[in-house]
Amino acid sequence: MATERTLSIIKPDATKRNLTGKINAKFEEAGLRIVAQKRIRLTKEQSGEFYAVHKERPFYDELCDFMASGPVVVQVLEGESAIAKNREVMGATNPADAAPGTVRAEFAESVGENSVHGSDAADTAAAEIAYFFSGLELVG
Ligand code: CMP
Repeated sequence: MATERTLSIIKPDATKRNLTGKINAKFEEAGLRIVAQKRIRLTKEQSGEFYAVHKERPFYDELCDFMASGPVVVQVLEGESAIAKNREVMGATNPADAAPGTVRAEFAESVGENSVHGSDAADTAAAEIAYFFSGLELVG
């Protein structure tokens, strides 16, 4: 196993309900370290750029509107196998399929408003981290 970093986003449905601390506690309890974090408001254009891989999907416009609808907390999580571990802690994309105790099982409202995003592979993690953070902001 290797120490990895992954990009996490606490989405507008969760920041609106003041859930940042509860979600961060789940990451920390799983052994993930929050090595960078900031609360920002994305424009629809920035949301579209971040989720460009989903451009052709029927939910793309709705997703971009939602991600721009309120503040998000973008963060870098570090730990052993952090990419897979974060996906375990988040649970399945659709909260109806998410395992008990996961962030999405406990907090997500729907498949679209599903409280958190996490990178799905090493190459996307590197690109997504670089989208939001400079090297100077990653203090370990
Ligand atoms: P995320 O892990 O951030 O990656 C892409 C996002 O698209 C996903 O979480 C959901 O928020 C959203 N998404 C996926 N499927 C659907 C869907 N069927 N309807 C609306 N949004 C979706």
